[in-house]
Amino acid sequence: MHFLTLILAAPLLFQGVFAQTFETDILAAKALFNLATYTAQHGYPSGSCTLQNVAIRREWGALSARERKDYINAVKCLASKPNKTPASQFPGARNRYDDFVATHMNQTLSIHGTGNFIGWHRYFTWAYEQALRNECGYKGYQPYWNWAKSAMDPLNSPMFDGSNTSMSGNGEYFFGNQSWVGIPTNDAPDIKIPKGTGGGCVRTGPFKDWQVNLGPVAPVLTYVEKNPDPSGLGTYYNPRCMRRDISQWTSSRWSKDSDISSLINANTDIYPFWSLLQGVSSGYMGVHAAGHFTIGGDPGGDFYTSPGDPTFFLHHAQVDRTWWMWQNQDPVHRTYAVAGTITFSNTPPSRNATLDDLIDLGVNGDAIKLRDTMSTLAGPFCYVYV
Ligand code: CU
Ligand code: CU
Repeated sequence: MHFLTLILAAPLLFQGVFAQTFETDILAAKALFNLATYTAQHGYPSGSCTLQNVAIRREWGALSARERKDYINAVKCLASKPNKTPASQFPGARNRYDDFVATHMNQTLSIHGTGNFIGWHRYFTWAYEQALRNECGYKGYQPYWNWAKSAMDPLNSPMFDGSNTSMSGNGEYFFGNQSWVGIPTNDAPDIKIPKGTGGGCVRTGPFKDWQVNLGPVAPVLTYVEKNPDPSGLGTYYNPRCMRRDISQWTSSRWSKDSDISSLINANTDIYPFWSLLQGVSSGYMGVHAAGHFTIGGDPGGDFYTSPGDPTFFLHHAQVDRTWWMWQNQDPVHRTYAVAGTITFSNTPPSRNATLDDLIDLGVNGDAIKLRDTMSTLAGPFCYVYV
């Protein structure tokens, strides 16, 4: 290889093989340092949680094979336990895992594009971690999926390589007659994600037999039938395989280390940070949306039913970590900062969200105030990220 070619190709090779995350690693280290300084000066926000007994959430690829298998087994255990959601509300919810999917579906339009978005999903992901620990004997903590680690080559990453220590791989090749997925919708696409090499059922790795029961409500795959529930809420029992179409096209554009670090560094105010993090606007995908559409498929690409794919919780732990990093660059001014209203993208127009707003998780957790989700060392929480 010519010397110049090698130099030009080096960053790509480097990203593909080692996936550098220097910029966000530094932001995470700084967040932890600032948190230590802050608590040393102001004391701990809750009596019992300290940096000595705090839980540490780690990246999927940093866990040992044993730790990953323990996590996978706990997820499967949850899906083998009886549901708590009443059949009168969600007749299709058949197990404890479905309880989480149902709660998310139930509240979709009041927890996305809203002021409570990041707090609600923090609480939701934590409640899921607690269920794995308290109901399925899991001893670890919720791992996160650092998108930047796999942005250039997701199919060969520890998350999606299809091995028995992965979260299973891509779906089988299935194109049907669809050549792209429209974001936010196929009818009015702002972004067209070209079809990847999947699109069919996931048939490799630990979740190859994973059964999805609820939804879909807003499927991105045109060949996946909507849930038969005439109410349109997707509550009927609709057992089917899990499909994915893992999109390197998406992750390589919007999930790199620099995409995350610039989101944090360029936005000192909560409003632009909160707004850019989440969704899609004028050809741009925020890291939150990009993570969902890197996985894609059914239920992963469905705005309502996305928790039906178990990678949802690793993805949302990284969304939470991104917020945590942002908050703790300046804990004094940012910990309790809120932006946004109480309706999806403020449609219909509504009042601003406040720290006194209640959020609830149905059968999965008590109602708490948004205020109690703002610090990962207070309210019900006691964890940090590395
Ligand atoms: Cu959500
Ligand atoms: Cu999400």
